[in-house]
Amino acid sequence: MQVQFNEIRTKVNADLEIVSSMKEIGDLKAKYLGKSGEITSLMRCMKDLAPDQRASYGKFVNELKEEVSLIIAKKEEQVKQAETLAKYEREAVDITLPGEEASVGSLHPLNIVKNKILDAFCGMGFEVFEGPEIDSDYYCFQALNIPKDHPARDMQDTLYISDNVLLRPHTSPGQVRTMEKKQPPIKILSPGRVYRADDDASHSPMFHQIEGLVVDKGVSLCDLKGLLDEFVKIMFDSDTKTRFRPSYFPFTEPSVEVDVTCCKCHGKGCSLCKGTGWIEILGAGIVNKNVLEMSGIDSNVYSGLAFGLGIERITMIKYGIPDIRTLFESNVKFLKQFNRR
Ligand code: PHE
Repeated sequence: MQVQFNEIRTKVNADLEIVSSMKEIGDLKAKYLGKSGEITSLMRCMKDLAPDQRASYGKFVNELKEEVSLIIAKKEEQVKQAETLAKYEREAVDITLPGEEASVGSLHPLNIVKNKILDAFCGMGFEVFEGPEIDSDYYCFQALNIPKDHPARDMQDTLYISDNVLLRPHTSPGQVRTMEKKQPPIKILSPGRVYRADDDASHSPMFHQIEGLVVDKGVSLCDLKGLLDEFVKIMFDSDTKTRFRPSYFPFTEPSVEVDVTCCKCHGKGCSLCKGTGWIEILGAGIVNKNVLEMSGIDSNVYSGLAFGLGIERITMIKYGIPDIRTLFESNVKFLKQFNRR
């Protein structure tokens, strides 16, 4: 009997040597101490023994059972600890590593430039007035002294909804709408989307303009020059110069086109300014007397200046963007460059 018990002891110890997981411990427990385990079966043999041997046999089996339970429990404790440790190691986090930066969006370059333009002029006392994008022939053309046969009124250039209703081709109707509502002094900016039947690398069917209008007593071309000189210094470099070239718009007289010294080569001549040293940035002029009168302002008392600039154009010049379409493609790689953090 003792021999058999010792064999079991040896086997248990040998088995315990090689177990390394809680699952194997469970299997081992079943193998020796479970319902049909080896030690449990020893108990069942008791009925085959002579009655006087049964008590001592039972005692030995119980002692063996206790002993085996104890050594398995000890091993179980070790395996549990080892498993916990391994788990901790597996799940360890290096708290000295730098964190992952959350990606934050940024303003679209057109909004960056628009805000900068509005800031520059609001700093000079301008107020913002926004007009409708769908407007009438009267506000877009007639009230701006644009004759019936003017090419801008052509179907090829302007997007008509009906004979009389159209997508505004410029923000100049903002001048008329303001003057109708308000008597001078007037100093407003009218920003917004405008539409033209045009689509290539430098024209988009929808783009953004900002209209500026000042009406007061004695407003002259000098005021326009001073105002725009100040603006370009804020918008580009402080050494940027402006140049007025005679031009024609039906709603201003005289009319000018305004150039600035190239922000890339500072006037020396480069690919951006096509070697001229100058870049055209906007159209402007002294408000035509007819326009003032049609909007109910006495042109013998008041005069006005107006200018209209394209936000896309300024943005492309400022950031050296060669194709206007890049501004509308929502390419995150492109837009990320404007994240100013
Ligand atoms: N409306 C003109 C355009 O779209 C720009 C402009 C505005 C010119 C105001 C003169 C005065 O080209």
